[in-house]
Amino acid sequence: MTAPLLPADQAHALDRAADIIRAGGLVGMPTETVYGLAADAGQGDAVARLYAAKGRPRFNPLISHVTDIAMAERLAHIPPLARRLMEEFWPGPMTLVLPRRDTAPVSELATAGLDTLALRAPRHPAARALIARLDRPLVAPSANPSGGVSPTTAQHVLDGLGTKIDLVLDGGPCPVGLESTVIAVGTSTETDQATLLRPGGLDRNVIEAVTGPLARAGDGHAPASPGMLKSHYAPNAPVRLNARTVKPDEVWLGFGDIAGDLNLSARGDLAEAASHLFAYLRKLDADGARRIAVAPIPPTGLGEAINDRLRRAAAPKDASELDIDPA
Ligand code: TXA
Ligand code: MG
Repeated sequence: MTAPLLPADQAHALDRAADIIRAGGLVGMPTETVYGLAADAGQGDAVARLYAAKGRPRFNPLISHVTDIAMAERLAHIPPLARRLMEEFWPGPMTLVLPRRDTAPVSELATAGLDTLALRAPRHPAARALIARLDRPLVAPSANPSGGVSPTTAQHVLDGLGTKIDLVLDGGPCPVGLESTVIAVGTSTETDQATLLRPGGLDRNVIEAVTGPLARAGDGHAPASPGMLKSHYAPNAPVRLNARTVKPDEVWLGFGDIAGDLNLSARGDLAEAASHLFAYLRKLDADGARRIAVAPIPPTGLGEAINDRLRRAAAPKDASELDIDPA
């Protein structure tokens, strides 16, 4: 049986989603970055079902989603630098890894036993309304089978997980299109050092205007993110990067002046390219591409996260060892 699809802007749909989550179920939920697979963070059984539905390794912890700083305060200790980041960028595509409170209603499974907690306040109105209805943190990894391409439409969620979950809220295509930027604060040193664990939908430069230069995951005392696998976000077809020409058996994903068969952004706009990236990789896969060549994408601004996802999409699929920020 495939999960029903309901419009994310309707009160009855949000009520139904809240009932399902209260009862330990799994709901595909739109956020501004990608669709998440939402469950009650505090219900160990629900979280176990979520890991099983995705086929996700249990050492890879989940993000707890909250409405605002007040709710975050119930879950984690918030150093001054983290508070400034929240005030500046929440709600929005930024996740903070912070020391957890013992009393946080988040199961050990959701944090993979770590004494830290990843927190994000999403901007999408449906996600905000659902969390507010429950007044509980919701874990929500991207709503795709582990290792695959993240979903940016409700149909993508159904395609990957439709038979394993209870409901999908359809909020239209995700405007950002890349997962949140993950930053650890105050977990590594005495000071308020901030470390980039995953580049994402909030440009590093914008964050560094508040934090100063970010440390790199894996450097010195900086913590590593357990979930950064070398092969991830991978379509079925093999991917070749920085392609300025195309080979006979390839389809070409273009950018800017390189039109290719499908152009991420004809005007060379990185935000537009980010919003198209996962949907276009899926489309080329669905069209039966044998191989996908991708035009060069500049490494600046959102290009850092786009290139990070593309490198993982291109990595050999048996490259499942941990990878400490190759960027
Ligand atoms: O935009 C997003 O972040 C989306 C939407 C649905 O909110 N969610 C998402 O979740 O991308 P997921 O589970 O696919 O990625 C969570 C990332 C992983 O790389 C995980 O390892 C890292 O956050 N993470 C979670 N808890 C952590 C912790 N305590 N310490 C370090 N990294 C952590
Ligand atoms: Mg994911």
